[in-house]
Amino acid sequence: MSSFMGALAKNGRSLSRNMTSSVLRGNSKAKSGDIHVQQVPESRYRDVLDHITPIFLQDEPLSQCFPHCTTGQRERDFHEYAETQLRSGLCVMALDGSTVVGACLSRPLKRDQVIGCSIPPSDDPAEDPLIANVARMLITVHQQLNLFETLGVDTFFEVGLLSVEPSHTGRGLALKMARASLELGASQGFRAAKADCTSAASASIMGRTGMMPVHRLLYDEYKIDNRVVFKKTPIRGPALTVMAARLQDIQPHVLPVEIKSKI
Ligand SMILES: CC(C)(COP(=O)(O)OP(=O)(O)OC[C@H]1O[C@@H](n2cnc3c(N)ncnc32)[C@H](O)[C@@H]1OP(=O)(O)O)[C@@H](O)C(=O)NCCC(=O)NCCS
Repeated sequence: MSSFMGALAKNGRSLSRNMTSSVLRGNSKAKSGDIHVQQVPESRYRDVLDHITPIFLQDEPLSQCFPHCTTGQRERDFHEYAETQLRSGLCVMALDGSTVVGACLSRPLKRDQVIGCSIPPSDDPAEDPLIANVARMLITVHQQLNLFETLGVDTFFEVGLLSVEPSHTGRGLALKMARASLELGASQGFRAAKADCTSAASASIMGRTGMMPVHRLLYDEYKIDNRVVFKKTPIRGPALTVMAARLQDIQPHVLPVEIKSKI
């Protein structure tokens, strides 16, 4: 997984420029309290990692399918992945006062990082099974889907990890961060976006931004060597939903796409 993450990191830093997003420039207010959404500066990378890591490794639906990691490998792999996204300069966070209470990590995803990527083995003992299996599923699906060809782009704005502190859920923060992220991507010149939603919640949130589902893979039907890989997913997350949209740098920034999955 580490080498896979390294390959994904290669092109992640080139598109970081000063943010022009009106949503972010205005430090837009959430539904309640003194919460605002803004781009993540380098000085807050550590705080965002400290916020997002426990939420993902405990609450994200697929993380609940594998035994707890006792070696620290899962956390290291997750940090490496999250850090490549932070270094892209395309990530946003929600602050309650000065405390990070939410994050939406995004990055540029180039055709070569998907189409030219070899599929990682699912049973490499040196890799954490959660992260290796998620990477394997996503690469397999996207090599077959090839949204680059379908939408005629070489690079996607990929909305990756989305998290909100349990104390702050249900106030529209995830939706606000997702919208701000897509507006940021549009303002930075990206013309298409995709998101791999591992739960019904994130698929619903990305759908409300204007993104459209282009492929759905039921976890019960995703098998390697005839065995279901993601067992015991919580009821809220029975499928991977791939969402996509076109982007433009004027309102509305998110344009729906109608794509029939070819797999
Ligand atoms: C999923 C998560 C990001 C939602 O954050 P949130 O700030 O509570 O979400 P929002 O308040 O912005 O919800 C916006 C919409 O999403 C939908 N939604 C939110 N949580 C949902 C859930 N658990 N199940 C189904 N839909 C959900 C609702 O339609 C909601 O709209 P509403 O105004 O009609 O209620 C948060 O619970 C979390 O961090 N979970 C753990 C990490 C994770 O699973 N991330 C997603 C995978 S990438």
